[in-house]
This record gives sequence, structure tokens and C-alpha cells, in this order.
Amino acid sequence: MTSERSASIPEHRLKRLHERLGGIAYGGDYNPEQWPREVWDEDVRLMKDAGVNLVTLAVFSWSRLETADGVYDFGWLDHIMDLLQANDIGVDLATPDAVPPAWLIAQYPDILPVRADGSTFGFGSRQHFDVSHPAYRQKSLAMAEKMGERYAAHPALCMWHVNNEYGPVSYGPHADRAFREWLQAKYRNLEDLNQAWSTDVWGQRYSDWSQVNAPAQPRTWSNPSRRLDYHRFTSDSMLEHYKAERDILRRHTPDLPIVTNFMRFYKNNDYWAWAAEEDAAALDIYPDPREADAHVAAALNFDLMRSLRKGQPWLVMEQATGAVSQWSVNVSKPPGKMRLGSYQAIAQGADSILFFQWRQARGGTERFHSGMVNHAGPNTRVFREVCDLGQELKKLGAITGTTSPAKVALVFVWDCWWSLELGNSPRSDLNYAQEVLRLYRPFFDANITVDFVNTTSDLSQYSLVVLPATYLLTDQGAQRIEDYVAGGGHLVASYLSGIVDQDNSIRLGGYPGALRKVLGAWSEEMHPLADAGEAVKLSTADGGTASADYWTEHLHATTADVVARYASGRLAGSPAVTRNRFGRGTAVYLSARVDGTFLEELLSVAWTAAGIRPDLEAPLGVQVRRRTGHGRSYLLVLNHNDAPARVDVGAGGTDSLTGAAVTGTVELAANGVLVLEETSLEIAAAEIGR
Ligand code: GLA
Repeated sequence: MTSERSASIPEHRLKRLHERLGGIAYGGDYNPEQWPREVWDEDVRLMKDAGVNLVTLAVFSWSRLETADGVYDFGWLDHIMDLLQANDIGVDLATPDAVPPAWLIAQYPDILPVRADGSTFGFGSRQHFDVSHPAYRQKSLAMAEKMGERYAAHPALCMWHVNNEYGPVSYGPHADRAFREWLQAKYRNLEDLNQAWSTDVWGQRYSDWSQVNAPAQPRTWSNPSRRLDYHRFTSDSMLEHYKAERDILRRHTPDLPIVTNFMRFYKNNDYWAWAAEEDAAALDIYPDPREADAHVAAALNFDLMRSLRKGQPWLVMEQATGAVSQWSVNVSKPPGKMRLGSYQAIAQGADSILFFQWRQARGGTERFHSGMVNHAGPNTRVFREVCDLGQELKKLGAITGTTSPAKVALVFVWDCWWSLELGNSPRSDLNYAQEVLRLYRPFFDANITVDFVNTTSDLSQYSLVVLPATYLLTDQGAQRIEDYVAGGGHLVASYLSGIVDQDNSIRLGGYPGALRKVLGAWSEEMHPLADAGEAVKLSTADGGTASADYWTEHLHATTADVVARYASGRLAGSPAVTRNRFGRGTAVYLSARVDGTFLEELLSVAWTAAGIRPDLEAPLGVQVRRRTGHGRSYLLVLNHNDAPARVDVGAGGTDSLTGAAVTGTVELAANGVLVLEETSLEIAAAEIGR
């Protein structure tokens, strides 16, 4: 394949990045403009000690790079780029438009985003822009053009980082206009919009396009279909801005990866649409050390990143060595946790470990957010751990580009997230991410690798598909699920799935409207349980008992078998959990939030029936993942417990960090990590197992 052809493929751009870096990317955000010149030499010296091979520059540097309108100063950036190049450290160069400078805001105050209540955000933080503002757009793209021109040929430049954590939503006049244009392109005629938004409810009909605008704070509750479209619009409008910058940078550097950084459980942007426009998914991840099971939510986000580009390796763009500065109490990470979290990301498909940030700031908002070098300097536990990890990762270069195919798919859809949480629904505390996490956790605990999918994804490679509160289903999405089960697939759907169509209108004839046929069951009424802590009993078909809280439904089985019934409360005697044979497949419906033990049991019955088995049997809290490819297989075993754990690794393999042969039962220290390169026998077995 010629370099020109291969460069046009994101996977190849990534491959070349890792070849150039000599394996896993290691480093972080570097803000030299915050420090006197003499610190820069110490920085690069310490970076060499730490094994840093990539730093992200200029993320917040607009005011230093364009000091007044059209007055550019790239001298300091040239200098640091040269210094890094001389020390063989690559640069992930950011376009700095997450922070429009004070002079630009003074010139165009209406760049500042407007809140739903009509008030305006002030200058003094960051992400203070309305992405639809013409001057913001023009000036930010001009900066991307300048940076592309200037640095395309610089030997330190390895990749581009566009903006930072896109997300600010505005309800101002520029957003109004852009939303209207977006709606006109979508609906073409106003009557279709009136229908889709059910504007005859509460007399909201529009008679002219000029009346349609962003859903700013209304007198009371507002139209949910309009707000759903606003979510779609804001994600699309920010993505348009990303794409415009990406296209400029691509023109200058066709061979370099271009990404922007995503956030954990971030609701505003539809990352399926975003990831499709990037060379890799890139995540900022800050698990709270106060939460004993923070690694489970992190795992979900890591699997989501791995899935967004169909299993392709992804990037940890930011994490913290220790404390952050965003919570009420910012706890530092215990020894070993930073290393463990880094290996967890690698086990789940990451090919980079980057931190925010290299040097802990001495001033500014995040002066207490930890760095790779903290306020105390390099003579610290944290810097020693940073150096040790950097040296270890050098031994794992061959893992880059390997992947982890899965047999289970969990559906994760931003349309569902947006539509489920719009309020004026049976519960005001509906939380999509928590619903997904609840159904993800049993797979995580059992060490079964899960892919996330969209309702437009091809499901044919999966033996089991799970729909957690998949509230909005398009006709095509519902049909795809029906075809999947009819063709022999196993399905588990939870309550609040298939309730509305693409316009956020209820599907009539009984819940879950879009899935009644495939589930062989329907609900006539939703019965959320009124009080926190209120629970009902369930009796199972095999004589067991269980319980449910939070959510129940008055369910009827048509063709489905009843797996469990309500045994107390108003629904006593009615079906609670059903299993339907449909075509050549099986579809299970959970009409209630069943207790954790029963949920695990139901899911393990489903995955066993689907022929799925864990990567390795291991005690709870010990995570096992396998990455394969290029004729290699790696088994990563991670002990998230605060106590040692014993794990039988069977035939095992070679410890990638020590070179020792490892077989049978091993003891992993608390927060311990084992990376085994398996022999060809296990590779073959792993491939057959899939
Ligand atoms: C985000 C931002 C960084 C930094 C970190 C730490 O991920 O991208 O600039 O603020 O959070 O809070």
C-alpha cells in the first residue's frame, strides 16, 4: 500500500504515530508558557527521565499566539517545539480555541454563550464561546490555518488536538439562527416540524419559520420534542466546527492523526457521530479515588471508547497522577492506583497514557490539580511512580494496535439519553448512564468483554445484545433488533426501552411499543415505585424469590414465558420478567428493576445460552482482559482490590514486564498488575473461543 493511500485511513495514521513514538504514547498536557524559560530545560530533562514521548501543547494558548486581532506570535511555540524535537519528544499540537482571548470577547461580546435563562456567561474561565458565532468561527479557523501552515513540516509534530472538551451550549441569537437553519434542513416544511413536535399540545403551533428558536427558559415546562432536537442540533453544530478545523489541518498534514478529547459520561455530544469523524476516540478520565468501585464506571467509559470506532485502539488523552481540583474533597490516589488505572485503560484497548498535566500549576484555577511533576518537585512518590510507569510501558510497545473482539453488545444511544431525561415523565430521577451501568456491571464482574453499539450498528457478530432503557427506537432500529432475534440472536431488554419514536412521541398500543412483538409481552401501565427504598417481592418460575425496586410495570405475556412474577404490591400475580422465543432467537424482558443478584442470574443465563464465557475465571474485583492481533495475544490481569488476590492463569505466558514464565495460580498484590504474553497455543484457543 502506498503511503498516500495508507495515510487516508485513520488506523494507518494511528499505526504510524505509535511506530514513530516507539510504542505506547506517554506524557501529557504541557503548558510551558506558564513557566519561565529556565524551567523548560528542566522540564525536558525530567521528561526524558520519565520516558515521556508525547506532550500536548497550546491547548489554552490563543491569547499568547494571537496577542491582538491579526497579530500573531509563534516565536515561543517555535522555540519549545524545537527544544522538544531536539530531545526526541513528539508534540500533539492543539488548536487553542477553547479559550477565545479577552481582546476577541471585547470586540464581539456576543461570542459569550447565553444560558437558557437568558443570562450570559462572563469572561474569566474557559469554553466561553457560542460555536455558532460567525466571528468566533472565522477567527478560530484562521488560527487553525496559521498553525497548519506553520507547523505542518515541523519534525516534532505527531498529531493534532482540536479545541478541548467541546461542549458549551448557548441559547443566544446566533444559536437561534443556526438552530432554525438546522431545522429547515431537517424538516423542509414547517408543518412537518409542527407534527414532529406535537405543537397542538399546549397550542404551540408555529406559522412562520422566524418564530422558531432555541428552547430558552419557558414560563413552565417545555416541549420535549423541541428540546430533543436542540440536543441533536448542539451536538451537530459543535461537530461541524470540529470538522471545519479538521479539514484545514488535514489539508496541511494528511498523514497525521487528528482528534479532540471526549469526557466521561458526557451527555451533550453524540460521540458516535463525533468518533466517526476522528482518527481515534480520545478520553479524559478522572475516576474519584473516594469511590471504591470507580473503576467499574471507568471500565464502561473505556469500553465505550473502544467501541466508538469499532474496536480500534483509543487514547487516554488526560488523567491525573493524583488529586484533581473539581470536587468538594479532592483525595489523592493511593500508591499504585495511577499505575493500575493506566493498565486498566491499556487492557481495555488504549494505546496512550497521557496526563493533565506535566507540571502542576502554581496559579490559576487548577493550581491544586496534580501533575506528573507536583509543587514539591521531582523528589516525590508521584514522580517516581510516573518514571517507573514510563519505563514499564516501553516494554509493551508491541501491544499497540491489538484489539479485543466481543460477543456481547450493549446499546448506548445519545438520542435515548437526551429523550429519557427531559422531565415530565413517570420519574424525574431517570438517569440513563446509571441504567446502562447497572446492566454493564454483571458483565464487568464476570470478565466478559462488552462492546457498545448504536441502534444503527451491524449486530450480526454478536451472540447477545442488551438494551438498557433504550427509550427511543426508530422504526429501522426496532426492525434491526427484531431481525437480529429472528435470525437466532439473544436479546435482553430492560424497562423504558422502545417507548418513543424518533420525534419523541409515544408509540401507542402498549409499552414497550417498538418491541412488543419480539418480546411477546406488553405493559398496560407504568408503575414506578413511589418512595426510595420501596420494594416489591418477585417469585420465579423455578420456585425462587427475588425483589424489585424503583420501577415496575403492569405486564402481560402474549407469546412469552413468564420467568418471574410480582409477588407483592398492586401488581401481585402479574408477569415481571418474561422470555420469548422469536424466530430462531430468544428475547428476555425485565419490566422491573430487579435486585442485583437476580439481575446477575438472569444475565448469566442469557450469556450462557448465547455460548459466551469469561476471558478467565477470577475473584470479584480482579479484571481480566485479552488483547490480540499481529500474531500476539496479551492477557492483562488487574487487581482492583485493596487486598492481594489469587488467580489461576492456567497455561499463562511470559510476564511482559519481567520476562518470567508464569503459569497456574499466581498472587497479585493489592492494586497489582500482570501482563502476560501468551503462547501461540493460547492465541489459537482465544481465536477459536471467539
Ligand atoms: C479537563 C480539561 C483539562 C483540565 C482537566 C482537569 O479534562 O481538559 O484542561 O482542566 O479537566 O480538571
